Amino acid sequence: MRNGTGTGTAAPVVIIGAGHSGVAVAAGLRARGWEDGIVLIDAENGLPYERPPLSKELLKDSAPYEAAVLRKERFYADKGIDRLAGVTAESIDRNGRTVLLSDGTRQAYHRLVIATGSRARPLTVPGAGLPGVRSLRTRDDALELKRLLVPGARVAIIGAGYIGLEVAAAAAAKDCDVTVLEFQDRVMSRVTSAPVSHHFEQLHGRHGVRFVFGAAVTSIVGGQAIVGGQRAQGVTVADGTVFPADVVLAGIGVLPNQEMAADAGLDCRDGILVDEDGRTSDPAIYASGDVTRFTSPIDGESQRLECIQNALAQADRVAAHITGQVAAEPEVPWFWTVQHGVRLQTAGVRRPEDQVIVRGEPSGGKFSVVYLRDGRLAAVDTIANLSDFRAAKRLIAQGAPIDPALSADPAIPLADTIPTNPDHAGADLAAARS
Ligand code: NAI
Repeated sequence: MRNGTGTGTAAPVVIIGAGHSGVAVAAGLRARGWEDGIVLIDAENGLPYERPPLSKELLKDSAPYEAAVLRKERFYADKGIDRLAGVTAESIDRNGRTVLLSDGTRQAYHRLVIATGSRARPLTVPGAGLPGVRSLRTRDDALELKRLLVPGARVAIIGAGYIGLEVAAAAAAKDCDVTVLEFQDRVMSRVTSAPVSHHFEQLHGRHGVRFVFGAAVTSIVGGQAIVGGQRAQGVTVADGTVFPADVVLAGIGVLPNQEMAADAGLDCRDGILVDEDGRTSDPAIYASGDVTRFTSPIDGESQRLECIQNALAQADRVAAHITGQVAAEPEVPWFWTVQHGVRLQTAGVRRPEDQVIVRGEPSGGKFSVVYLRDGRLAAVDTIANLSDFRAAKRLIAQGAPIDPALSADPAIPLADTIPTNPDHAGADLAAARS
């Protein structure tokens, strides 16, 4: 039986998963004065690393590999964080408060934090297991993809979400021949509205990326490689068309790594259910990051957020609760992506039924799209428009009502588009304008 480091003799806080959220819980506990042991279980070898560069900078030939670590090695030693690298947590014994590890040992815990994140949704069509078919989730995935993206390579990308589009941009910059096959009728349909989708589709088109929408992939075609055995050579869609490919990347979404929690009897529903402090249905167990589902403090919706902002914010709440302290105020979730050097920044979570208002002229390269729900600002997409992004974060948090006509005028600052009619929606307009 393992115990843990620290000044006390009590069992440690054990954190399963060393992504952004897991590492932030460990750092946050120390920052908040936790003196007993902290054990960080990391299924991967090497130092925990940042994920955003994996689909962007890391794919460039010039990218320095070491630049992507979250914390230097010394940090873990200095902070007394006992990092178990290359070790997987297999199961949780809630009665005994232990975790069974892949090396056969049992790790005792005082509090357990599940920060296991999510994994790439697997492509399940025939041929999906052929060499040359890749997904992108880990540093090793990124390094392998980088090796395959050579000038002239035919790259078929399945899924026009964040991953698919960021990789399409990186591959086009390396003079690959890129085709994106998307099930829906536009890019990034999960996260944004048609005006933003069309802007990015055109941007990719100018860089030579081809799109096939309404594409239902039915199989991966294999063939004999010049060296080695069979490998992927094309992607077949429902009408029988085959798109030749040397590399196939599936970027078709993620699944939460919740199985161990579910097997231990914790409440899960497309994510481990947690409260505002990150507590699961077991008071000794917390969860944090992509793997969780929770009620948004902003709009009351049940949600599972796949973003670093949430991974860090939840980590802070968990660390605060374990140490009996007050956490920071909830923040409006925000996201970003960079494609061909163009940055899309999103604040809030849009819904398909929201009213969509475009501010500015997309062809000019600087514009925003605001999303109104019941007359209030719910979310915003901004392209080269940091002032709208900053203002929107504040206005969304305040539930500010917005005048649709005024907000369509990009010359009027967003904060000045709050209606002057005091009867409007009963909001505290003075607070919202301040
Ligand atoms: P995604 O959910 O953003 O996009 C998946 C896309 O694949 C959707 O457009 C969907 O319609 C399409 N799709 C699904 N099944 C398909 C099929 N069988 N054939 C064709 N198209 C299909 O997920 P994605 O891009 O895989 O990203 C994975 C995760 O990584 C997400 O959590 C995302 O938030 C995160 N990520 C975030 C980034 C950012 O914030 N900039 C960058 C890269 C990844």
